[in-house]
Amino acid sequence: MQLQFRKSYKFAAKTALYIAILLTLITSVFLYASNAISYWFALVFFMVSYAISFFVIQHRAERFIYKRVKKIYDDLTIMESANYTKGAITTDMRTLTEEIDKFARDKKIEIETLKVREEYRKEFLGNVSHELKTPLFTVQGYILTLLDGAMNDKPLLEKYLERANKAVERLGYIVKDLDMITKLEMGDLSLNTEVFDIIELVKNVFDMLEMKASKKNITLAFDTKYKTPILVKADKERVQQVLINLMVNSIKYGREKGTTEISIENLVKNKVIVRVTDNGEGIEKKYLARIFERFYRVDKSGSRKEGGSGLGLAIVKHIIEAHNEKIYVESEFGVGSEFSFTLEKAK
Ligand SMILES: Nc1ncnc2c1ncn2[C@@H]1O[C@H](COP(=O)(O)OP(=O)(O)OP(=O)(O)O)[C@@H](O)[C@H]1O
Ligand SMILES: [Mg+2]
Repeated sequence: MQLQFRKSYKFAAKTALYIAILLTLITSVFLYASNAISYWFALVFFMVSYAISFFVIQHRAERFIYKRVKKIYDDLTIMESANYTKGAITTDMRTLTEEIDKFARDKKIEIETLKVREEYRKEFLGNVSHELKTPLFTVQGYILTLLDGAMNDKPLLEKYLERANKAVERLGYIVKDLDMITKLEMGDLSLNTEVFDIIELVKNVFDMLEMKASKKNITLAFDTKYKTPILVKADKERVQQVLINLMVNSIKYGREKGTTEISIENLVKNKVIVRVTDNGEGIEKKYLARIFERFYRVDKSGSRKEGGSGLGLAIVKHIIEAHNEKIYVESEFGVGSEFSFTLEKAK
């Protein structure tokens, strides 16, 4: 501080010295020429002109720098010019540099974030239109074929209408998922927290998915008999969505006659962990890190038998994170997968 202070006066002190020496020399020459030279007078003259020069220069320089700096501050709106006082100017050159550095850094981060978001947006739109295109063109194809004459063939008419209906249903699911993920990503999701029995909720989901599972002869079961309720505190509807998404995956990517097992364990004092384990196709290590990304699917080829938009796990992750809980995945390719998430226990 002390050093800074002196430094800021150095400029005025030096310049004033030069001016004072010059003026004294010139005046001395004049006085010498007119034979009226007095060393005392020269000395006093030097001192007075030095002092005056010093104060004028110091004052002017300070004003000048203050004006410029203030303008920079105003332009950058780094801080309110109001809390920037004139007296602070000399020492504040360093602060200004720091502020501008910080400003530049912040701006850079902001631009990076915007770029990432822009990429994200483009990718999202691309994915959405891609996902919608397939079922839409399917419907269009069937309708056109029917209009072309197939509608006169009664069995064909029914078959095509049914297929078109399937595709429309699929469109509906995608739109619903998109709606959900958009809400989740905008942070619009307000949790409806309540206390409920997670065992009972899992049983409900078992009932809902029984048909789907039986088509592949997959058994949905608990790992052991849970005799007493396990009460948790969370948004019941969302947790149900999580369970559905995970169990549907375990069926979709499960093997014929396989098993999906649910277990609920105490984790720490106030947490339980819910595990959904299957003995299906599993996920290769290299894909594991990406499966929670929206639209990400391991098998991207159209040849896959199981349709899906790749939003299921992204939605699951959002819901769990909205609860401030964690989701984990462990999987061995060809052996099976285990998805697990934590929930808060109700006291
Ligand atoms: N239990 C599982 N076993 C094997 N692979 C899985 C399992 N769960 C998810 N995956 C892989 O992770 C990918 C992403 O899953 P996600 O649920 O997000 O999308 P999806 O099931 O393809 O489509 P959607 O759920 O939107 O209908 C899946 O495509 C699949 O490859
Ligand atoms: Mg899924």
